Amino acid sequence: MIQAVRGTKDILPDTIDTWYFLEETARIISELYGYRELRTPSFEKTEVFSRGVGEGTDIVNKEMYTFLDKGGESITLRPEMTASLVRAVIQSGTYQQNSVSKYWYFAPFYRYERPQKGRLRQFHQFGAECISSPYPESDVEIIQLTHSFIQALGIEEYKLMLNSLGNSNSRDVYRNALIEFLKDNKENLTEDSRNRLEINPLRVLDSKAENDIAIVKNAPIILDYLDNESKDHFEKVKSLLDSLGIGYEITPKLVRGLDYYCHTVFEFQSSALGAQDSFGGGGRYNTLFSQLGGKETPAVGFAMGVERLILILESLNKLPKTEAEADVFVVSLNLDFQAYAANIAQILRAKGLKTATDLQRRSMKAQMREANKCGAKYAVIIGDSEFENKQITIKNLSESSQETIGIEFIPEYDFKF
Ligand code: HAM
Repeated sequence: MIQAVRGTKDILPDTIDTWYFLEETARIISELYGYRELRTPSFEKTEVFSRGVGEGTDIVNKEMYTFLDKGGESITLRPEMTASLVRAVIQSGTYQQNSVSKYWYFAPFYRYERPQKGRLRQFHQFGAECISSPYPESDVEIIQLTHSFIQALGIEEYKLMLNSLGNSNSRDVYRNALIEFLKDNKENLTEDSRNRLEINPLRVLDSKAENDIAIVKNAPIILDYLDNESKDHFEKVKSLLDSLGIGYEITPKLVRGLDYYCHTVFEFQSSALGAQDSFGGGGRYNTLFSQLGGKETPAVGFAMGVERLILILESLNKLPKTEAEADVFVVSLNLDFQAYAANIAQILRAKGLKTATDLQRRSMKAQMREANKCGAKYAVIIGDSEFENKQITIKNLSESSQETIGIEFIPEYDFKF
């Protein structure tokens, strides 16, 4: 038997209602905030991500599905949306300095990571990006949107971790201070972190290795290096969140694994998840547009992992109920009634009722069993007398009551659910 590729998952009909629920909630909440959906191709020229996400990141170095296509072009399955979306917005020429554009997406992404609970090689994200505002109000709108979404799902307990990476001046000064500190402790760092020290020292801060954690504990923190502009931005974000009653935890070592961030960065954590406890994150990225060849344009956004949200909903027992396959099952007692049954089914569907018929030429008993199995509330029975008199018998399966009506009365008949 051919198995699905490791780290990928089929979404079978018994879980599809959860996906509809998440997709629908994402759409409703995004639209309430004035965001419009944007879809991009699943693959891009590799440089979109090597330039966008950053050469020194794990995503670009280790996790990308990259291949040469038959024309010899280097192509990558998108590992995230922000770089693709910025590429698309630049290409469409629809962004302007003084006019905000707001986008959301719900799509599959690809990372060659070691699969485990909550970590897949094809996974889905719901995200949104707010383009062209440099102001903290837009950072907060993005966080507010995530808050509304999480609440709409019924998730009450989660942690919002918040930090500022400051502007590029602050970060340069901090970067140097951090390199100095790490150099002094170089021999105790893991090899990975030693390699990162020069290229991307901030990434050492979120190393999971015990040695590194012990050293990083005493490392300087970025918040002590913010200049006035960066401090003002962060203070405004915090005070707006306070006034909205959105709780957060300042986490000075939160740096996030993508290079494009500046100023506000944030991540959502849930204790329901185990090792992969982050179910979303985001932040401000003011240089990505120019890195990808566009006009310098400030922006901020977030993305949430859909499979991780499902794990949380599962642990809270809050997955939506699976919808019945059919509202009505048409039971036909004789093969000669097939065309009649098919016509009745059409009339019922025209009323908006999910209607199934027997496709296995089974006995009445087996058809009634099938009606129950597919969750139908009603069986519509066609026997000799119904066929001859242009009637149907409607049986309420939960109450065991039934009545016979002429087919001309089906459109008005009040099926109760
Ligand atoms: P990210 O933190 O790399 O950010 O991913 C966001 C979320 O996607 C994670 O918190 C996690 O829930 C989910 N995720 C990531 N990798 C996997 C995986 N292998 N399996 C399952 N879930 C996964 C970004 O992607 C940024 N583009 C977010 C952003 C948008 N920043 C600004 N705008």
